[in-house]
Amino acid sequence: MAKFHFVEDYERYVAQLVATHPIDEAMSLAVGGDYERVGKIEAAILLSFGLRQGMHVVDLGCGSGRLAAELHKSFDISFTGTDVVGSLLDYAKTKAPSYNFILHQALGIPVPDSSADIVSAFSLFTHLLHAETYLYLEDTLRVLKPGGKLIFSFLEFAEKGHWDVFRSTVEVTRSAGQSHLNTFIERNAIQTWADRLGFEIERFVSGGDTAWDAAALGQAVVVLRKPNP
Ligand SMILES: C[S@@+](CC[C@H](N)C(=O)[O-])C[C@H]1O[C@@H](n2cnc3c(N)ncnc32)[C@H](O)[C@@H]1O
Repeated sequence: MAKFHFVEDYERYVAQLVATHPIDEAMSLAVGGDYERVGKIEAAILLSFGLRQGMHVVDLGCGSGRLAAELHKSFDISFTGTDVVGSLLDYAKTKAPSYNFILHQALGIPVPDSSADIVSAFSLFTHLLHAETYLYLEDTLRVLKPGGKLIFSFLEFAEKGHWDVFRSTVEVTRSAGQSHLNTFIERNAIQTWADRLGFEIERFVSGGDTAWDAAALGQAVVVLRKPNP
């Protein structure tokens, strides 16, 4: 069976980094770099939206464990990280040995119904087609407990700081270079998906108006809630 574009893109990208960099550097670059600093911001975001000890957190596209490594220092939680590249998960496991990591190369979430308090996806939907993101949202609704939250980051044209990502994607495209997909998602698309699926939107955040700084993350953040029955 043919592989999804994201599996081929990321396997190739990570293999190339591993071949040309020391392992720690390769594993940081593979998820966008700045491993510790970004991990701290991602953890602060979860904390500000309700992460507590004992919860079950599912991190989609967890990569080499930037978020897991930070949470593992102080959170006794049940953590499930999923990704499409095995070598990233192997590295993540060394950073967060008591957490669980699952290689899953399809657009679903390998955890039971109504089992997660929080599902996070940082810099994941930025690399998928809208229909692929929608499939993840659909399955997230299945795995969240009522009242549980999906927290994800995204790129949008309304945010000036995101323009550079688009410009560099344009240049790679101009030179027919190979890169993974960079997808912008407008807020009205997120609103429509939420309405269609039955999520409530708790909050959109961009810029630095919170305890953590979305501008420093380089992406906007949205929190969707699965309604209580
Ligand atoms: C930019 S990295 C971000 C990693 C991590 N969320 C973080 O913030 O450190 C994107 C990650 O998504 C993974 N990925 C790409 N497509 C995926 C998919 N369809 N499902 C799950 N993970 C995917 C990649 O292998 C990569 O680890």
